Amino acid sequence: MRIAVVGATGLVGEVLLGLLPESRFADAEIVALASADSAGKRIPYANGELTVSELVSDSFAGVELAFFAIGDELSERFVPQALDAGAQVVDKSNAFRLSEGVPLMVPGVNDDALGDAKLAANPNCTTIGFVHAIAPLMRFGIEEVVAATYQAISGAGRDAVSGFWEQAAQALQDEPDAYSIAAADALRTVPAVDDLVGDEHKEETKLRLESAKILGLEAERIFATAVRVPVLVGHCVAVHLRLCDEIDEAKVRDALGESPTLQVLPTGETPTSADAVKHRDRVVVGRIRVRPQQRTVDLFAVADNLHIGAALNGLRIGEMMCG
Ligand SMILES: NC(=O)c1ccc[n+]([C@@H]2O[C@H](COP(=O)([O-])OP(=O)(O)OC[C@H]3O[C@@H](n4cnc5c(N)ncnc54)[C@H](OP(=O)(O)O)[C@@H]3O)[C@@H](O)[C@H]2O)c1
Repeated sequence: MRIAVVGATGLVGEVLLGLLPESRFADAEIVALASADSAGKRIPYANGELTVSELVSDSFAGVELAFFAIGDELSERFVPQALDAGAQVVDKSNAFRLSEGVPLMVPGVNDDALGDAKLAANPNCTTIGFVHAIAPLMRFGIEEVVAATYQAISGAGRDAVSGFWEQAAQALQDEPDAYSIAAADALRTVPAVDDLVGDEHKEETKLRLESAKILGLEAERIFATAVRVPVLVGHCVAVHLRLCDEIDEAKVRDALGESPTLQVLPTGETPTSADAVKHRDRVVVGRIRVRPQQRTVDLFAVADNLHIGAALNGLRIGEMMCG
């Protein structure tokens, strides 16, 4: 079997290449694709190396499955070419997530949505952690859900990580005073992720609309504030839910505990972004507070944005597509 990894030199592509040799695709021939700048570059794969090729129109000859981990415009251009060449495609960009007829997949949450689709979309990294955490509570009916995210730098790709290191190192070198460091661009907490459209940043819109599509919830019942924080890997989200049915703490913990994709921490243990990396193939949930009279649940969920939030989710979709 021939598999293309498009964006093989990026953060998500690199994590995917780490997972493929341990997956059901271990014996596949891997075609590593990236920009012309990376053509000829050798990158580690399994116990050897792959040579990166430039992504061009005829890159998909003989490819049965293609994982796309590149920007929206490039996906818009090359995904149709991969499909025309006969490949099944898992696309991690924003290009097709809300397109009618394209399933937006979070394996373990909405497996039935896949059908026999040849193209499936992978949600935004924050959406994935969020829907894993709230899906088990759908059985109680969700009247309203309010989310505040704390998103890591790596969610914005390799250039953002390099820029962060440079700026943070510069700030620490130049400004040893705590208040000056607090003002440094790289070390701020910024509730403005992606462009502002109306009164909502695009990252907030993605969280609402994608979660609504995946869970079958009305988007108007979801309120989100997306915040970039100076953390390298591990997206966190503080969630407040108002439920329809009667609940108590045992019912809520039982529902969350039944999910094989969640790591539910006992009362008193605090999930941090570091737990996201420690439990990379699960979403870690803690700080669970249930108020039965108000029918509300508060919880804090953390997820590795590159792993379960991107590459692993995409790999699981690819495995489902190939039966
Ligand atoms: N980072 C996350 O947490 C995350 C999570 C979920 C989804 N996603 C989505 O996944 C995609 C990849 O994200 P990322 O974080 O891995 O980005 P990244 O680190 O910036 O990597 C981008 C990749 O795109 C390639 N590329 C750039 N221009 C190209 C061109 N003209 N032709 C072919 N390849 C080109 C780059 O190749 P070169 O190295 O040659 O430039 C690189 O391999 C994005 O759509 C992103 O929204 C990211």
